This record gives sequence, C-alpha cells and structure tokens, in this order.
Amino acid sequence: SIPSLKETFKNDFLIGTAINPAQIEEKDPAAARLIPMQFNAVTPENSMKAAFIHPGWDQYNFTLADQLVEYGKKHHIKITAHTLIWHSQLPGFVRGMKNPDSLRQYFTNHITTLASRYDGKVFSWDVVNEALDDNGSLRQSIFLQQLGEDYIVEAFRLAQQAAPHTELYYNDYNIEQPKKRAGAIALIKKIKKAGVRIDGVGIQGHWRASHIPLAEIEQSILDFSALGVKVMFTELDLSVLPNPWDRDNADVSATADNSTAKDPYPNGLPDSMQTVLAKGYEDLFNLFVKHKDKISRVTFWGVNDGQSWLNNFPVRGRTNYPLLFDRAFNAKPAFYSVIATGKER
Ligand code: G3I
Repeated sequence: SIPSLKETFKNDFLIGTAINPAQIEEKDPAAARLIPMQFNAVTPENSMKAAFIHPGWDQYNFTLADQLVEYGKKHHIKITAHTLIWHSQLPGFVRGMKNPDSLRQYFTNHITTLASRYDGKVFSWDVVNEALDDNGSLRQSIFLQQLGEDYIVEAFRLAQQAAPHTELYYNDYNIEQPKKRAGAIALIKKIKKAGVRIDGVGIQGHWRASHIPLAEIEQSILDFSALGVKVMFTELDLSVLPNPWDRDNADVSATADNSTAKDPYPNGLPDSMQTVLAKGYEDLFNLFVKHKDKISRVTFWGVNDGQSWLNNFPVRGRTNYPLLFDRAFNAKPAFYSVIATGKER
C-alpha cells in the first residue's frame, strides 16, 4: 500500500481531485478505491456545469449532483460545486439568447435554484469562473455584454441569499500573473465593498512542469490572503508537453516537431520527464507547505493521467502525463515527491 496524500497534509490543507460520473457511481473500481484513500475534497469535473445540469428553461438534471452529494457524505469528502456562472459550457438555450431580460431571468433562476438546492450539502461553490482577461479587465462574454459589469457582484449576492451555509469562491486561471492578478484583486475588493460575501479565490494551476511561475505564485498567495479570503489551488496539473505556441521548448525532450504527435512518448513517459514532473510538483508543494497557514485546499484536475483534459488540449487526442497517478493507477515518482514535502518536517 502507498502513503496517503490527505493524511500527509491533514494539518495543512485539504487535498482534492476532479471527479467524473463513472467515479461517482463507482463504476470505475480502481478509482473508487483510490479516491477516498487519497482525497478529502472533490470537484465535479463537468456534471454541475450549466450545459449538463440545466439544459432547458425549466429542465434540470439533478441526478449526478445528488449522487455526488451522497458520495461525499459516505466518504467524508468535501464537495466544491463547479460552477454557477461561466461563459463556456452554457446550454444551447442560453447561448442563443438575444434579450437581456431573458438572460437575467435565466441568471437569477439558475443561481437561486442550484445554490439553494445544495446549500448545506456541498461545502462550497465556484460562483463565477474565468470572468477575467489576461490583461486584468473583464472578459467579453454574454453576461458582460447583456447584464453589464456588475453581473459578478450580482452573482455572489444571489448565491449568498440562496446558500447562507456554503462557501462562495471566484475561480480563474493565470491569476498568479501580475496583470490578471490585479484584476482579480480589484474584483474581490469590489464584491466586498458592495457588502457581498466572497469566501475564497481559486487559482486553477494549469502549468507546464518545466515552467512553473513560482515567484508569481508566492506573491499571489500573499496578495490574495491579505484580502482576507481563503486561497486555494483548484485545478492543478502539470503538462509535460510543449504547447504549439511556446517559443522555447528546449528544456522539454519532446521537440516542437513531435509536440503535435498523438503520443510523443510511445514507450511511456521516460525517466528524464518523470524527474521533471516530480521536481515541478516538489517545488510547488514546498511553496504550499511554506504558506500552509494561508492555503486551504489543493485540488488536482483528475485522478490519473487517463482522465486528464490535457489529453485533448491544446492538441486533440495527444497523450499527456500531468497527474500523480499513471493510466493504470500506479503512483508516479511525482506522487512520492509530493508526499516527501509533507513528511520532511
Ligand atoms: O458529455 C459529452 C458527450 O455526451 C459527448 O458525446 C462528447 C462528445 O465530444 O462530449 C461530452 O462532453 C465533453 C465534456 O468534457 C465531458 O466529457 C465536452 O465535449 C468537453 O469539451 C468537456 O471538456 C471539459 C472542459 O472543461 C470543457 O470546457 C473537460 O472535461 C474539463 O476538464 C474542463 O475543465 C475546465 C474547468 O471546468 C474550468 N477551468 C479549465 C478546465 C480545463 O479546461
């Protein structure tokens, strides 16, 4: 048997994973065994997004979310529901909306229905997801265009009214980067100034194993916690493959040329890259442990490499290896490097 992540960090922060329906329904026996041993927090990877849970005006698919609540209760796992307001994965009936009054009615119904139904059953909600541009201003979206720039404050206000017993978070990627971080800070201050509750901020953490922005991450932990909100890493994975748009791929053994190959490592991830991945996770977790008093949760975006969205992004069908467990659920060297950061104290 292997050590447990949740036990190793139990005095520091929660350890979470994104979870999919087969895992919730325990149709995936290996995952069903591993998840409760290793994790004390879960986030549904897709099943509580608007397109899945609210496909028509008066039509809701609560089944998977209700199963998730039962699953969490059974295994003493905290659930972060994901996500109420996001420009992506919107149902068709919302995507085509031209009338701001209809959109506002959807917005109010959606938040109120879901936040109230799961209040006291989930631990937290990602109320708004990815509302900022890389330059720190509000991202163009159907919500910004039709509801105006106060829509984020309004989303938190509605969630607060409907879910008084649920923690409410803002979640985004790249918010460790200075410009976007400044935008997130301004947003959190605006919500607080309006007298509306926001409990935490989620830094997603989709990075490349060889290019982790450690200094910016550390500054973000300090800056966000100074606002009096919980700081979380919510969608952690470390890609071992170059992105087609990256100029400098020199430190990655896959060349720019084979970065679009479906599997750049047909014989499995080589030791050299296992080491790069393990080092990336080690550096990150050393930082997390250093600031454990300011970090409340670290969630991986998937249990094992086979589940990762990075197998379809930025190159569809490309085999990636970003997580702590391989496709056969074996713990990788990166798993042990993470465990070591918690043990060596
Ligand atoms: O469920 C349908 C299925 O019915 C259909 O046959 C199939 C055909 O493509 O698609 C299935 O939906 C897919 C869904 O995952 C569930 O598997 C979507 O196409 C696919 O786009 C979707 O991808 C998800 C992605 O969000 C959507 O934007 C990834 O699994 C999920 O990991 C990813 O997660 C996001 C976070 O929510 C927010 N932050 C970024 C992160 C990574 O993109």
